[in-house]
Amino acid sequence: METRIITHDGQFHVTNGLVSHVIRILPGGEPNTIYFGPAIHDRDDFSDLQELAVRDTLQTDAGHPGLSLEQIRREYPQGGSSDLRPCALDVGDAAGSHAVKLAYDAYRIVSGKVPLDGLPSTFANGTGDDADCATLEIDLADASFGLRVTLSETMFDGLPVVARSVRVTNVSHLPQTVESAYSASLDLPDADWDMLTLTGAWAREAHVERTPLRTGLQGVSSIRGHSSQHANPYLALARPNADEMQGEAMAATLVYSGNFDASVFVDSYARTRLRIGINPEPFSWRLAPGETFQTPEAILAYSGAGFNGLSQALHALYRRNLIRRPWNACRSPIVVNTWEAVHMAMDETSLTAMARSAKELGMEMLVVDDGWFGHRDRADSSLGDWFADRRKFPNGLKPLADAVHRMGMGFGLWFEPEMISEDSDLYRTHPDWVLGDPRLPLHALGVQRCQYVLDMTRPDVVAYLRRTIGDVIGKAGVDYIKWDMNRSLSEAYSRALPPDRQGEVFHRYALGYYRLLHGLAARFPDLLIESCASGGARVDAGTLAYAPQAWISDDTDALERVKIQYGTSMMYPVGACSNHVSAVPNEETGRRLPLKMRGDVALFGTFGYELDPALLDDGECARISRQIDWSKRLGPLMRSGTFWRLRSPFAPRPGFDAADAAWMVVSADRRNAVVGWYRALTGVNAPVPWLRLAGLDADMRYAVTEVDTAVADAGDTAMAGRGFTPWRPRYGDELMHAGLPLTDRTTVTWGRDPFPGDGSSRLFILTAVDASL
Ligand code: DGJ
Repeated sequence: METRIITHDGQFHVTNGLVSHVIRILPGGEPNTIYFGPAIHDRDDFSDLQELAVRDTLQTDAGHPGLSLEQIRREYPQGGSSDLRPCALDVGDAAGSHAVKLAYDAYRIVSGKVPLDGLPSTFANGTGDDADCATLEIDLADASFGLRVTLSETMFDGLPVVARSVRVTNVSHLPQTVESAYSASLDLPDADWDMLTLTGAWAREAHVERTPLRTGLQGVSSIRGHSSQHANPYLALARPNADEMQGEAMAATLVYSGNFDASVFVDSYARTRLRIGINPEPFSWRLAPGETFQTPEAILAYSGAGFNGLSQALHALYRRNLIRRPWNACRSPIVVNTWEAVHMAMDETSLTAMARSAKELGMEMLVVDDGWFGHRDRADSSLGDWFADRRKFPNGLKPLADAVHRMGMGFGLWFEPEMISEDSDLYRTHPDWVLGDPRLPLHALGVQRCQYVLDMTRPDVVAYLRRTIGDVIGKAGVDYIKWDMNRSLSEAYSRALPPDRQGEVFHRYALGYYRLLHGLAARFPDLLIESCASGGARVDAGTLAYAPQAWISDDTDALERVKIQYGTSMMYPVGACSNHVSAVPNEETGRRLPLKMRGDVALFGTFGYELDPALLDDGECARISRQIDWSKRLGPLMRSGTFWRLRSPFAPRPGFDAADAAWMVVSADRRNAVVGWYRALTGVNAPVPWLRLAGLDADMRYAVTEVDTAVADAGDTAMAGRGFTPWRPRYGDELMHAGLPLTDRTTVTWGRDPFPGDGSSRLFILTAVDASL
């Protein structure tokens, strides 16, 4: 159903047949949240769903006799009132008062979306009545304080999702200070939820944590200047009985890459307030008379079908309304990335040879990672000097790019645009471009990299980067950039801003980052951008708006990667996650996992390699080239199919030594699917592994074929040759309800596990009996 915004006297019901959001304006003008959840029928008057109880110990509200603001569900709670829960908006006026009291003033219904000034956001497809979403804007005002606030909510046709943002305008004659302005706040009537977050650290990003809500404040946040691998800007609430396949759950996330706070407050009466937005901790924003502050966009998704329902809603939204075309649907090139292969030891001759051997195996793009610029032999030099190192590339990058292009491959290049090394011409020329207080020693990164952060709040810095990086891209003919960011912001002081604007540095930095991304994307519309921040330190929807794929971790060990891909898929579409097969022993863990396992994991995403193909023996070359063919065959499905998590690597099961993990991707017409099943530790005399599948057509008959991608020929559409193990066809209902038991030929014999050896994988292809993938 299309989105409808139904208005009755002081009541707004936004619904698309999947979800409903009902707001009622109380007599004093306070917008009251009546309902948010699965779609409900409309009624002229939902006022009997309002909670108006007043308790003896709580203040009643002057503007709303008989009503306690602390007792009601509020659409956008302002601080400085008698609502003493954590609030969404805190603004101070020139006299130092924070007593804002907003009341309803006006509303607008917009077909489609209102773009956000300077910030990435979801977009509408189609215009006017054909737009695939509709927006309700409600203006609130406090005339005596001199503040106007516009709440904007977009609902998307066919998706259980809303996007929310807020504009705060100073309509007084004196300056004001925004101390906090969350993008969305949602009051829920009970606290019977678990909280689910994605936390971790470098090389172990997006680990799933689940904990019951308790009274008080809880959540995840970042003050690192980027969204961070320590906590992703994602917070889900799930009923205690909810799991991947069933149960009620909702998620909040942010189309933003800077400091964030995603938190839940449970009050003493077991009611829940969920807030998401810019982290107020190191934040304040001066608003001159007439100025407006725009918050980033928050996304709220609802699912009655567990976490898979939730992530499928987010994936669908991102593909349809966030990721740049054509990358929202098409397969990305299969890359060979130089980082783990050669680190910084590169030159034109060796990279030309690497590209040639990669091409022979079927790879489609050479990505020259860190080490090509300035005099970058070590990690502590040259950042900011985006000029080819003439010792390594005597005639610049163009001859290498041309040679690669003549081979029929794309040419990719690494940048770390926001950083500067002390040992760089840029630093020597512009020491004042560094973010930090010049009176204090700067903290550099780690023991090796010693790099500083550029002051991205400065328009001249952004303009310089746009010009120099743009020139390299333009002159060499770069098709793809990997945009890295390897340190958090500390001493976030800008020499270009006055003292009363230092609280704006983090957000202005994010705005500068987007300006640069926007400028490069506008100058090079076909440029493919892969985001990276020491791996997954900036995997967020704001970055996804510009960079259709992300290097989600530096950890290329397949067993670790299973966990990282699993967690990341809670929020990110699998086709937007870049995964590479790397050499063994693995750089991070020292493990030697089989090539098949490494490939079977990386295939579920944007595929590539992180090794020197010239060092492979003939057998490895043959197996890798078949793996690449499989990635080409399955790639379109990975970009466009529906992703289902089947078994969590974070949840060991009785009888097994370690959790196994499984997932699958199903085509939109449900005629094709691919299943990946992974086992960390093999077992002896262990239970028979069963796997119940999902998302299939119950009445369709599927041919089930196990594939060894290192042996089987991807061109063999009959799937009858070597490396294919056919199973008897079966109906979708059986596959989903009984499951796939590993009791076939590869069976449990003499107590041996059907996953022989630690770190092994099994891959199945399902095709409707009259279809071929
Ligand atoms: C960190 C990235 O995550 C790696 O893939 C690599 O690009 C290095 N930086 C290069 O310095």
